Amino acid sequence: MNERDSEIIAQSLSQHNYIETIDIDSADLIILNTCSIRAKAEQKVMSMLGYLRKAKKSRPDLKICVAGCVAQQEGEKLLERMPHVDLVVGTQHIYGIPSLLDKKSYSGERVATDLSDKYAIPRFIPDTSETHSTQNQNQQFSRFVTIMQGCNNYCTYCVVPYTRGREVSRKYSDIIDEINVLVDSGVIEITLLGQNVNSYGKTNPVTNDGSPFSFPQLIHEVSKINRLERLRFTTSNPKDLNDDLMKCFRDVPKLCPQFHLPVQSGSNRILKKMNRKYSIEKYLELVDSLRKYCPGIALTTDIIVGFPGEEKHDFDETMKLLETVRFDASFSFKYSDRPGTASLHLSDKIDEEEKSRRLAVFQKRQNEISLERNNGYIGKTVKVLVESLTAKGYQCRAATNHVVHVETSTTLVPGCFADIQIVHAGQHSLKGRPI
Ligand code: 5AD
Ligand code: SF4
Repeated sequence: MNERDSEIIAQSLSQHNYIETIDIDSADLIILNTCSIRAKAEQKVMSMLGYLRKAKKSRPDLKICVAGCVAQQEGEKLLERMPHVDLVVGTQHIYGIPSLLDKKSYSGERVATDLSDKYAIPRFIPDTSETHSTQNQNQQFSRFVTIMQGCNNYCTYCVVPYTRGREVSRKYSDIIDEINVLVDSGVIEITLLGQNVNSYGKTNPVTNDGSPFSFPQLIHEVSKINRLERLRFTTSNPKDLNDDLMKCFRDVPKLCPQFHLPVQSGSNRILKKMNRKYSIEKYLELVDSLRKYCPGIALTTDIIVGFPGEEKHDFDETMKLLETVRFDASFSFKYSDRPGTASLHLSDKIDEEEKSRRLAVFQKRQNEISLERNNGYIGKTVKVLVESLTAKGYQCRAATNHVVHVETSTTLVPGCFADIQIVHAGQHSLKGRPI
């Protein structure tokens, strides 16, 4: 979502006559669009701001703006700690950055971080005539579209409800208009974004006449857009995953066979302390249904190790879950305290060394499983979207979201599909040759 927000900021500034540079040392304005999901992300922002303090000393006219979740979380305090920062812009104000910068030059307003419960995601039509440095090469044909933001779930470790605010769904017609513009410019793959996409349409009306409209309906409607070839979405909380959504993997051919379903822990005791509102038994039922509706679906997850009070037997349950589900890949993190969250106040914290040990044990086994699963693709033919030509050959993407590297003397065209026979598997990617 930050990547998408950065594109929006870049586009709105270029509409206000700013010219983009990729050279930080020649910029007159630097915007850091920040993440605070884990302590490490926030530390990166602080060290970058430390570096920029020196830059500002040698170039006093340089304007520095901090946007996004760290800005939201810290607000005024950020200015106290970092006086060289000119402007702090929270998550609901990114569309207003050009006018905030204008105002700054005469009124000196430096913080825009109020979070409104009545926030509506603005209508915003992407400018497809320009490429910004916030975009990767493959974004000519593969793009993110925000459909909702914020979260009402209050998992006890999570800062999102405080940084992104209450859950708000974007108007259905704005989403369709945005996708149509992208598809008209040659985009063929769309990823629908939200902190909890399954809640789309549940918290505010998204249709003009106020009639109910759900996430599975949105998937069906988006898939009707001609020339759109691939559709993906992220992220879902398992507690809100219903049969209608799972059936989309069977019934909507454009919906890619890939599902990111964060489980966080394999222990029911810890899931309860995390306020996740599902059990492992329920999670395993969902996995079975997904695999029934869509055999071959690639499943990925998020895991937190070392949540306060996680005992050895809880961690063993997480390892057991890994063996039961055999995820294609996972993203795993050491628990870190976040400001404002409920788990911050839990007393039974796990020490850093033990968290690191558990993380290493988990990742080692996950890597082995990923390799085993990837080996299962050897000899198979997969249809890939060619994304870019790199020094190591073509980088492509399978419908399952696997990265496929192709070394060939045949010319492949970025933005086109190719049938590739897989000849080698690594832990994180596949290698193949064109048929
Ligand atoms: N500590 C560690 N990991 C966290 N995540 C969210 N909050 C924390 C935290 N306080 C992880 C979760 C989530 C992913 C985006 O980041 O696994 O799914
Ligand atoms: Fe955070 Fe996701 Fe829980 Fe919402 S559902 S509070 S975004 S972890």
